[in-house]
Amino acid sequence: MYRDILSLVGGTPIVELKKLRRDGMARVLVKLEYMNPTGSHKDRIAIYMVREAERQGKLKPGGVIVEASSGNTALSVAWVASRLGYKAILVVEEEASPVKIGLIKALGAEVVEVSGGYRKALETAREIAYREGGVFLNQYDNEANVKAHYETTAREIYMQTGGYLDAFVMGIGTCGTISGVAMYLKEKLSNVKIVGVVPRGAAILDGPGSVGERIEGLSHNGIPGIYERYRRFIDRVESVGFEDALKYMRYAIRFEGIMGGLSTGANLCIALKIAEELREGIIVTLAPDSAMRYSHLLS
Ligand SMILES: Cc1ncc(COP(=O)(O)O)c(C=O)c1O
Repeated sequence: MYRDILSLVGGTPIVELKKLRRDGMARVLVKLEYMNPTGSHKDRIAIYMVREAERQGKLKPGGVIVEASSGNTALSVAWVASRLGYKAILVVEEEASPVKIGLIKALGAEVVEVSGGYRKALETAREIAYREGGVFLNQYDNEANVKAHYETTAREIYMQTGGYLDAFVMGIGTCGTISGVAMYLKEKLSNVKIVGVVPRGAAILDGPGSVGERIEGLSHNGIPGIYERYRRFIDRVESVGFEDALKYMRYAIRFEGIMGGLSTGANLCIALKIAEELREGIIVTLAPDSAMRYSHLLS
C-alpha cells in the first residue's frame, strides 16, 4: 500500500529479449520505463527538477511551472505539478501525440502548442515563464535531469544486472538519461560501452540546423546543452531511420510482448546491432514509453 503516488516513480523491471536475439549474439535486457506512473522515464526527471527548483527557492507554494517538451516530460511535469499544487503551463510541439496532449489537459494543466521544433518551443516557454513569473524547468539544460538518472535509473540498472553489463544503448533527446546512466556506469565499470541513438539526419551527427527524421522524443534540430557537457561519456552515436524504429517497435510487440513506443524500436534496432558485434556479454537498453501513445502508427 502506497500513501503517495509520487513514490511509485522508478524501480521499473528489466526483461530479457528471447526471440529477437539469435545464438552468437550478446544478451539484451530492456528496462521497462513505461511502467512509471504516467508511462515514461520522464516521471523521474519531473520530480527531480521540481524538487530542485523548490530547494533553490525559485518555486514557492502555488507557483507556476513552465516546461517545453515533445510530450512525455510535459505529461510528467503536469502530473507532478497537480500532485504538489502548482500551476503548470506546457509548451508542446504541434506534432506531439494527441493522447499525450489530452492527458496533460485532463491533469488540469495548460497546453500551448507550437510549430517550429524544439528551439521555438524553448523560446516560447522562456517568454511565458517571464510573463507569468514562473519557473522554466528547461530539461535540455537542467542538471537535475542528469542527476535523476545518475541517482535512480543507473543505480537500478547496476543492481538489477549485479554489475555485469558490457554496453548501454539509449536514444538521445535531452541527453539526460544517457548522460546520467553513463556517468554512473563508467565510475563502476572500466570497460562499459555507451552508445547513443539519434534519428537519421539529426543535428548531433549531421551538424546544427539539420532536421532529422521524426522519432518522437528523439527528434530535435539543435544540440542540447546536456549533450555538450556530457558527450565525453558517450563512446559512439548511431542513427536510425523512422521506418526501422517503427519496424522494431512492431517486432518488440509481436515477438517479445514488450509494448514499447517508437524510441523503444530505435533503441532495440541499435542494441541488437551491438549485440551482434559483441557476440557475448550483456547489453542494457530502455523502453522509454509505451506503444499506446503511438497506436495511430500501428493501424
Ligand atoms: C519517448 C522518448 N524516448 C527517448 C527520449 C530520450 O530521453 P532523454 O531526453 O533522456 O535523452 C525521450 C525524451 O523526451 C522520449 O520522450
